[in-house]
Amino acid sequence: ADKEALRERIKARLKAENAVLVTHYYTDPDLQQLTEETGGCVSDSLEMARFGNKHPATTLIVCGVRFMGETAKILTPNKRVLMPTLEAECSLDLGCPIEPFSQFCDEHPDRTVVVYANTSAAVKARADWVVTSSIAVDVVEHLAERGEKLIWAPDRNLGRYIQEKTGADMLLWNATCVVHDEFKAKALAQAKAIHPDAAVLVHPESPEAVIALADAVGSTSQLIHAAQTLPHKKLIVATDGGIFYKMQRAAPDKEFIVAPTAGRSGTCRSCAHCPWMRMNALDNLAACFDEPGHEIFVDEKIIPKALRSLQRMVDFAN
Ligand code: 13P
Ligand code: SF4
Repeated sequence: ADKEALRERIKARLKAENAVLVTHYYTDPDLQQLTEETGGCVSDSLEMARFGNKHPATTLIVCGVRFMGETAKILTPNKRVLMPTLEAECSLDLGCPIEPFSQFCDEHPDRTVVVYANTSAAVKARADWVVTSSIAVDVVEHLAERGEKLIWAPDRNLGRYIQEKTGADMLLWNATCVVHDEFKAKALAQAKAIHPDAAVLVHPESPEAVIALADAVGSTSQLIHAAQTLPHKKLIVATDGGIFYKMQRAAPDKEFIVAPTAGRSGTCRSCAHCPWMRMNALDNLAACFDEPGHEIFVDEKIIPKALRSLQRMVDFAN
């Protein structure tokens, strides 16, 4: 269907259903724009989690990947949570199945279990804390100050970065993000040499050697903030290309260069793009009001435990 007609149809249904859009920066700009126009939230995963609770809508439509929809459902179980597709996975969630993870935790009963938000509801329920990239360092610092030893899962790169920043005693699970793990330090150093006046912005799911070249490391929201506030007019960005929609508008006078992935030279804006975030579009968003198979359900037995670890994150952030 024609894009404008779809947009109008979605707007009307949002009103009729008392629904609001909660959208991640990595999704299609069409979705980000529509979310802004209709008073929803476009943000990083922490803010997406916090938004649903504060907003009076009775239906949340989460444009992102499944763990984001599940997080919304766990935090607001009385709201209906819909997603354009339930097939949008995350390689970190897939890389941390509950059985082996639970066994790993059982083998280290003296350790506090901290997991990234990019995990299943069952993994969150096995954890003591959930964190997102925007507060991971602060939470771990707080736990390390209390003398706690930790298990960290699933992102190995983020875990190693936090360990370096905080000096915490952490056992790391070994999974990676298919998008960020592809950024290449050697090619990034070459890009820096070509653009010596550029600052480098890096999401901490990237490899250690890429983070080592960064001027700013942080969550998607924090990278957008850095793009606005750093004095540099040129920015080399190592995160999913979806972020450029917001970043460019946040800092319209600046030039953005995509950090190189394998075999690329910094000009391709689609090569660093999450295959699951990409599944969200106007047509499956429009369909989610009427078609079955778009609603998120989380096992009621899991919700109380997952809520405990997620609520700690939300309370810490407040
Ligand atoms: P943020 O919390 O930084 O938005 O990260 C979510 C994510 O999936 C990064 O790949
Ligand atoms: Fe998961 Fe990486 Fe996609 Fe984020 S970009 S949802 S971490 S696979």
